[in-house]
Amino acid sequence: MKSFKNVGIIGAGSMGIGIAQIASNSNCNVFIFDQNKSALQQALKKLEKVLIRLIEKGKISTIKKDSILSNIKIVESLESMKDSDLIIEAIVENSAAKKEIFCQIESIVSNDCVLATNTSSISITSLASCLKNPIRFIGIHFFNPAPIMPLVEIIPALQTNSNLVKEIHQLLLNWNKKPVVAKDTPGFIVNRIARPFYSEALRIYEEQIADFKTIDFAMKHIGGFRMGPFELMDFIGNDVNYAVTESVFKAFYYDPRYKPSFTQKQYADAGWHGRKSSKGYYDYGDNIELILPSKDERLLEEIFERILVMLINEAMDALYLGIASEQDIELAMTKGVNYPKGLIKWGKEKSFSWVVGKMDTLYGLYHEDRYRCSPLLRKKAIL
Ligand SMILES: NC(=O)c1ccc[n+]([C@@H]2O[C@H](COP(=O)([O-])OP(=O)(O)OC[C@H]3O[C@@H](n4cnc5c(N)ncnc54)[C@H](O)[C@@H]3O)[C@@H](O)[C@H]2O)c1
Repeated sequence: MKSFKNVGIIGAGSMGIGIAQIASNSNCNVFIFDQNKSALQQALKKLEKVLIRLIEKGKISTIKKDSILSNIKIVESLESMKDSDLIIEAIVENSAAKKEIFCQIESIVSNDCVLATNTSSISITSLASCLKNPIRFIGIHFFNPAPIMPLVEIIPALQTNSNLVKEIHQLLLNWNKKPVVAKDTPGFIVNRIARPFYSEALRIYEEQIADFKTIDFAMKHIGGFRMGPFELMDFIGNDVNYAVTESVFKAFYYDPRYKPSFTQKQYADAGWHGRKSSKGYYDYGDNIELILPSKDERLLEEIFERILVMLINEAMDALYLGIASEQDIELAMTKGVNYPKGLIKWGKEKSFSWVVGKMDTLYGLYHEDRYRCSPLLRKKAIL
C-alpha cells in the first residue's frame, strides 16, 4: 500500500482546516495553502482553540495538541506542495475554480501524487477531465465538522484507477474514519438519500397538514431522529440546504422526486437562513415563542410514516442503481447524518410490502412521479 505521509490541503475554510487536523492527528506532514492569507491565519487560530477545548475536556494531551499544530505547515504557494503524496482540495464550490487549481497543481506534483476533491456536488468525472493523468483523481467527501463526523464518501471518477479506491479506503481507516464508496452521481449517497427528509417535510407543511413544530416532533418522538427536519434545515442553513437541493434537482435532469420547495426558497431569499441569522423556521433571537406541537398520535404517525417511506424508497432506489452497496448505504445514513437506524433495515422491519403499499397510496392520491416506487422495493415486496 502506498504511504500518504505528505498531505497538501488547498483551501483553509471550515472543511480544509478540519481535514488538516485529521491528517495531522495521524502524524502526516500537512501543507496547507489558501489564497486568502488572513483566512489561513484565522483558521489556525480556530484550530488551536478547538484543541485547547479538547485538552480541557480531557480528550487529548498538551503533547498531542502541540504535535497536531507542529505537523501543519502554512505554505505561501502551491509550489511548496511539490513533494505531496496526496493533495486534498477544499476551496470554494465552483467547478471552474477547482479545475484551474487542479491544472496548476498537476504541473507541480509528481505523476503518482493522488489528487482529491472534497466537493459535495460537482461531478468527480468532470473535474478529472481537466487533468493530463486523470487516473489518480478521486473524490474524498468529508462531512462537517470533519474531525467529528466519522463518515467519508469515496467517489471514484469514471477515469480513476480502481486500486486507488482501495488505497484511499485503507488510508481513511488509518485516519479513524468510516469510509464508504459511492458512484459518481448527484448527491453521492447521503445528499441523495436524505433529500426526502427535508422535501417531504416541506411538502407536508405546504399542504397544511401540520406546522414545523409538529412535523419535527413526529420525526423525533416516533422516529427517534435526533433533530426534526426543520430544526436540521435551520442548523445547516436554508441557503445551503436549498442550494444543495436545487443542484441535485438540476443534476437529475429535473426529476420531480428531487423538486425543491417554494417555501424553502422564500426562506433562503428572505435571509431567514436559520440559526446563523437568528431566524429560520424558528426564532433564535431574544423573543423566542413557545410553540407546542400537536399531540394527535394519529397525525404524528401519518407524518412520520410518509417521510420514512420516502426515505426507504430513496435508499432502495440507490441500491437498485448500484450507487453503493447495502452495507455502505446503511453506514452512510447512520454515520453521516446520524439516522437512528439504517433505512434498508427499517424497511425490512416494517416490511417492504407495507412500504410499497404506502408509496402506492401516495402515488394514487397525487399521480406525481415524485411518489413512484423503486422497482427493487416492489420486487422485494413480492419475494
Ligand atoms: N461546509 C460544509 O458543510 C461542507 C461539507 C462537505 C464538503 N464541503 C465542500 O468542501 C469545500 C470547501 O467548503 P468550506 O465550507 O470549507 O468552504 P469555505 O468557504 O469555508 O472555505 C473555502 C476556502 O477556500 C479558499 N479559496 C477559495 N478559492 C481558492 C483558490 N482558488 N485557491 C486557494 N484557496 C481558495 C477561501 O479563501 C476559503 O478560505 C467545498 O467544495 C464544499 O462544497 C463543504
